[in-house]
Amino acid sequence: MNEIIEFIKKTPKAELHLHIEGTLEPNLLIKLAKRNNIKIPFANVDEVKFAYNFSNLESFLNIFYQGSKVLIKEQDFFDLTWAYILKCKEENIVHTEVFFDPQTHVNRGVNFDLVINGIHKALLKANKEFGLTSKIIMCFLRHLDEISAFKILDQALVHKDKIFGIGLDSSEKDHPPRKFERVFKKAIEKDFLTVAHAGEEGPSEYIWEALNLLKVKRIDHGVQCFQDEKLVQKLKIDQIPLTVCPLSNIKLRVFNTLQEHNLKKMLNAGLMVMINSDDPAYFDGYINKNYIETQKELNLSLREVKTLIINSFKSSFLDKEKKEYWIRQV
Ligand code: ADE
Ligand code: ZN
Repeated sequence: MNEIIEFIKKTPKAELHLHIEGTLEPNLLIKLAKRNNIKIPFANVDEVKFAYNFSNLESFLNIFYQGSKVLIKEQDFFDLTWAYILKCKEENIVHTEVFFDPQTHVNRGVNFDLVINGIHKALLKANKEFGLTSKIIMCFLRHLDEISAFKILDQALVHKDKIFGIGLDSSEKDHPPRKFERVFKKAIEKDFLTVAHAGEEGPSEYIWEALNLLKVKRIDHGVQCFQDEKLVQKLKIDQIPLTVCPLSNIKLRVFNTLQEHNLKKMLNAGLMVMINSDDPAYFDGYINKNYIETQKELNLSLREVKTLIINSFKSSFLDKEKKEYWIRQV
């Protein structure tokens, strides 16, 4: 087998942009729908897969939020997370930072505590059984209002020991980061680190807002940064991590093809980028497929792949010693 593909598969990696609800595979979706007696508009796995054909972020999110309705009990969130953990093992992900969207669940009557407990218990078991390390990042849905975000932040405070950071996701267009400036300020006062999706479909100004108003440590996606040369310089000088998700960007038509993706341009510009899977069950690819297909289509060298993987650890919220340990392994 090609030496670079072999390297990608066997090398320890960190994943920094992964929505746990986006790991709901069609077979688990069908199983949970039956187990919880939830009506879904799909009779079988093939019908689910057929529906996974998106024209943009909004069209994906409509199906994504529908799918999440089968998650009701703590055991469902545990099973969902455990299935992703098994993928981590297969793909040599040794550290993962997982997003969850509590408003998607709480707003349909599911209790916040059971959501976080199901996810957290699975990650704890993975750490005990095979040393996988993780952080949980709670995202606000940006299409909802500030009041809803404040309410969910209050619920998160009880679980401060389990939730490491605060993020921002969902429909980007017309929902600028500035809408959440005050709630992010409160989150920072409560000692959460912050990240935000910005510059996925939305304009480069949203990346500035995420940095300046939400004080984020990382930008999720950020592929629209080249609209503004000053911004590129800022991202380069401060080495702000951009958690790029190539297969997601193709499925949601941010780029037409992987060959047109600007990841290599970002690397060449000296930006702190790495590869992640975003919603792998919906975009048909976990982290290795993202690395392998991007490497092939952008003709990335072994050195460039190594840089991306090293960047995944550098950009993580692991402590200095653990970062150095994994970078030495790579
Ligand atoms: N929620 C899940 N995946 C997302 C993405 N790619 N962008 C914004 N919100 C999301
Ligand atoms: Zn995302």
